[in-house]
Amino acid sequence: MSQSPQTADDRDTGPPIAGLIGSGPAMREVYRLTRQVARSNASVLLLGETGTGKELIAKAIHQLSPRGSGPFVRVNCGALAENLLESELFGHVRGAFTGAIGNRTGRFEAAHTGTVFLDEINSTTPKLQVKLLQVLQEQEFERVGDTQTIRVDTRVIAASNRDPLREIEEGRFREDLYYRLNVVTIELPPLRDRPEDIPALVTHFLKVYRRRNDRSQVPRVERAAMQALQKHDWPGNVRELQNYIERAVVLGPDDLLTEAALDLKRRRPKRRGSSDLPALVSELVAQGMATAGPDAMDLQGQIVDRVERELIAQVMADCANVQVKAAVRLGINRNTLRKKLRQYGLETQ
Ligand SMILES: Nc1ncnc2c1ncn2[C@@H]1O[C@H](COP(=O)(O)OP(=O)(O)OP(=O)(O)O)[C@@H](O)[C@H]1O
Ligand SMILES: [Mg+2]
Repeated sequence: MSQSPQTADDRDTGPPIAGLIGSGPAMREVYRLTRQVARSNASVLLLGETGTGKELIAKAIHQLSPRGSGPFVRVNCGALAENLLESELFGHVRGAFTGAIGNRTGRFEAAHTGTVFLDEINSTTPKLQVKLLQVLQEQEFERVGDTQTIRVDTRVIAASNRDPLREIEEGRFREDLYYRLNVVTIELPPLRDRPEDIPALVTHFLKVYRRRNDRSQVPRVERAAMQALQKHDWPGNVRELQNYIERAVVLGPDDLLTEAALDLKRRRPKRRGSSDLPALVSELVAQGMATAGPDAMDLQGQIVDRVERELIAQVMADCANVQVKAAVRLGINRNTLRKKLRQYGLETQ
């Protein structure tokens, strides 16, 4: 029997990865890397804008790896201040700091034989980055306040939605940690660069939300409507598209999604005054850039924090990390700036 020559496509496409939609060339490359890296124990760095699927890929790498039956432990490094994050990651012993009333196991230990997913790794402080580097190199660490060394068998996957090289240049990320993490980097392309995946994603989300909302049928999508969805630039990427389709299922007609019903043009944020904060908040939630909690103040707080952190980081970078200069430019005093730098994990050594 003669063998037909293997084409690039035969090599690159295995079975689809469960839960991941989109089979254009960019995502196929992502799947190929995901499968390859899953076989190893190498650290992986996932890069991509918000909502591009970094967490899904992290889980897929874990599940497809020999560690798949072990724990998958996610830590959002952006959500905790330095000290809390250190104790969350490595644990602490009783009396290590005020409030440490008992011993506590950290997430690295909890992920023993499995994978720890360090989300928003770019938010960690230089001090913590040193400790992370040590764990990556030695596979061992001490709990906060303890001298006993703990060895773990934990695979590390990290994610960042910032460009790491720029973060290094601007002094916010340690180069040595970057090279240690970046044994393999997988870049998740923004949705606007892969419009070919949009029809499959739309169909998928229509089915999901039809089921959830007990709608009798999956609406058809008018051709012009699909084209409009493909032309849209989706700053919140797949998460934004997903929320958008959910809204269309809940509010739209049962049988046919039209371009008019989609009303995409209304979604571009205009310049606005501060009185438009509630509108901005709903938009950020729809784009998946904030999570709606039980109370609206909490949500506004999250958004204000995000924007403020971004602004301070930018001004500090522009001022070459000279705090006096940055404080003047931000119109706050230097103590306040120091407090905020600490709060947002933006301190430089
Ligand atoms: N290729 C895909 N197929 C199906 N769903 C997807 C895909 N990519 C992302 N999603 C969905 O979009 C949402 C966002 O994905 P995910 O949380 O993995 O993004 P992220 O890159 O981690 O975003 P962030 O940086 O904001 O944390 C999730 O609900 C996820 O299920
Ligand atoms: Mg994520």
